[in-house]
Amino acid sequence: MSKKFSQKDVYEPSEETRRYAWVNNERIYEMALDYLTFWDSVAKNDIEWFEPYREVLDSSNAPFYRWFVGGKINITHNCLDRHVETKGDKTAIIWQGEPENEKERITYRELYRRVCRFANALRALGVRKEDVVTIYMGMVPELPIAMLACARIGAIHNVVFGGFSATALRDRINDANSKVVVTMDGYYRRGKVIETKRIVDKALEGCNVESVVVLERIGNDVNMVDGRDVWWHELEEGLPNKCECKALDSEHTLFILYTSGTTGKPKGVLHVHGGYNVGTHITTKWVFDLKDRDVFWCTADIGWITGHSYVVYGPLSNGATVLIYEGAPDYPQPDRWWSIIEQYGVTVFYTAPTAIRYFMKLGEEWLKKHNLSSLRLLGTVGETIDPKAWKWYYKYVGNERCPVIDTWWQTETGMIIIAPLPGITKLKPGSVTLPFPGILVNIRDEDGNPADSGELVIMNPWPAMFRNLWGEPERFVKQYWRLDGSGRLIYYAEDGARRDGDGYYWIIGRIDEVLKVSGHRLGSAEIESALISHEAVSEAAVIGKPHEIKGQVPIAFVVLKTGYEPSVKLEKDLKTHVRNEIGAIAVPEEIYFVEQLPKTRSGKIVRRILLAIEKGEEIGDITTLEDVTVVERIKDVRRAK
Ligand code: WTA
Repeated sequence: MSKKFSQKDVYEPSEETRRYAWVNNERIYEMALDYLTFWDSVAKNDIEWFEPYREVLDSSNAPFYRWFVGGKINITHNCLDRHVETKGDKTAIIWQGEPENEKERITYRELYRRVCRFANALRALGVRKEDVVTIYMGMVPELPIAMLACARIGAIHNVVFGGFSATALRDRINDANSKVVVTMDGYYRRGKVIETKRIVDKALEGCNVESVVVLERIGNDVNMVDGRDVWWHELEEGLPNKCECKALDSEHTLFILYTSGTTGKPKGVLHVHGGYNVGTHITTKWVFDLKDRDVFWCTADIGWITGHSYVVYGPLSNGATVLIYEGAPDYPQPDRWWSIIEQYGVTVFYTAPTAIRYFMKLGEEWLKKHNLSSLRLLGTVGETIDPKAWKWYYKYVGNERCPVIDTWWQTETGMIIIAPLPGITKLKPGSVTLPFPGILVNIRDEDGNPADSGELVIMNPWPAMFRNLWGEPERFVKQYWRLDGSGRLIYYAEDGARRDGDGYYWIIGRIDEVLKVSGHRLGSAEIESALISHEAVSEAAVIGKPHEIKGQVPIAFVVLKTGYEPSVKLEKDLKTHVRNEIGAIAVPEEIYFVEQLPKTRSGKIVRRILLAIEKGEEIGDITTLEDVTVVERIKDVRRAK
């Protein structure tokens, strides 16, 4: 590594962290340059296969890469069966409900049994290999149990974040052609019951779903439809708690997870058993230095990729103890998270910058009420953490003892791609530091040439990479992959980044129309289509305005159809409409009714101009606009509000 590191803001690994670490030899980066040999050794040393693979990587039909070709595997074997033999009595999941007295500890043996029993239940319903099961639940142990049960029998899970609306759920069920939905009566959030089953009933009005399995969590009234709906516990009655672990092809689909992109329709990102197991396993182990005595708490909702990879599959494959908390971070008091860390002796804590900024604002008094000395390592993901928040996290949560590990990755990458290795990587607040061993990252300028600032690209395939977009192979090829001058196929991340003199990466943010609202990924186009689906709206443009805590908030500019007049009521109606179409996280903070949107002569909306107006910045070049007077008129609308 370079010897520069002259600037002040550099944090060396402590002697203790270095000694504890799985990786404490800097040469790992060099050694992993031969990436196929590196991934081969990880797959052989850390993962169990029913039948060995013949080839590490098949690039013959790139970008439809195939990893660990010919191997037979099942990710649930690595997450469950192999641990039952060696540490069956170890706690796999600590669950804390939002009500303080509701909690549960599940050992590996018990988790194995419950997964098997539910796998048998799914079978009894007629679920077969390759069927898509949609899971729409809150944060309860049965959510990972349902996921693992699907995986065990070779079915494909399609988890939909519990915060999405009935319409968003319906779209995802239909797009995935899913015949079975697993859900629950409800769960707690800020002391209130979220009536999950009611949302599902509404979603199913427009679907061909054959069966709905309903977990009883709260005991609230639900409407069970005869011949379609069945209680989880009744379905399981009398079924054995053993279920054969199906030996699947390495490339067998494990799950679909919908995520937002540039166009209105969310894309179903597809991951497979073999490579995803290898990639999430080793990144969990090395980036968080996970050991047997750790209590790992990743606060992400399981409905997003971070929850899939670092609440469920990565940690369980490592045989770790994971904590799952049902409720809101600040309920009943702003110190709820800190009290959970203290109560359960959490050692590794992984959260998002938006949460850190929120707690920073609430003040450190809430932290000082608790003994957080069990913590050993702090992680962050989802957006850039500014150095101020980084240092606050380091000082007040980690008591200046715990490294802050900033991890960059995406739904598409499946696993962490850029992050420090705690034992060897010096930290710079605000930088995601260096690519994980075996992964070659670079930056390209607008012309596709290597540069120190531009778009982040990944030069080699990696095991946990997504394999396709569900039902949209052309979009998969076109959107993400480009040939460079030498004929090499490269992955474009759609993130802006720069690299400093030490080779450290600094993420600038999305270069497409994707927003990060409190760490949740949402597309401008998705919110725009929701607005346009309202009878009063003719056109809409949505931008992400910087926000102190949430990172970004959606702001909408709406053109009404003739016959409709702007009003406070209409603004409220439109907000409710977006809430119903997508969910509360997508509701615009502000809606401006304008006569026209700024468009180029070819009719493209220039969102950059709207953002500049909203931020009160220089507008820059507007000569490409079809009608330059639009800018002043939009400014007037904003001023009048
Ligand atoms: C952003 C979340 C800066 C980035 C795992 C990426 C980050 C998008 C970081 C993917 C980070 C994620 N620093 N930005 N450490 N981690 N991002 O699919 O813009 O929900 O493209 O996956 O989040 O969001 P997604």
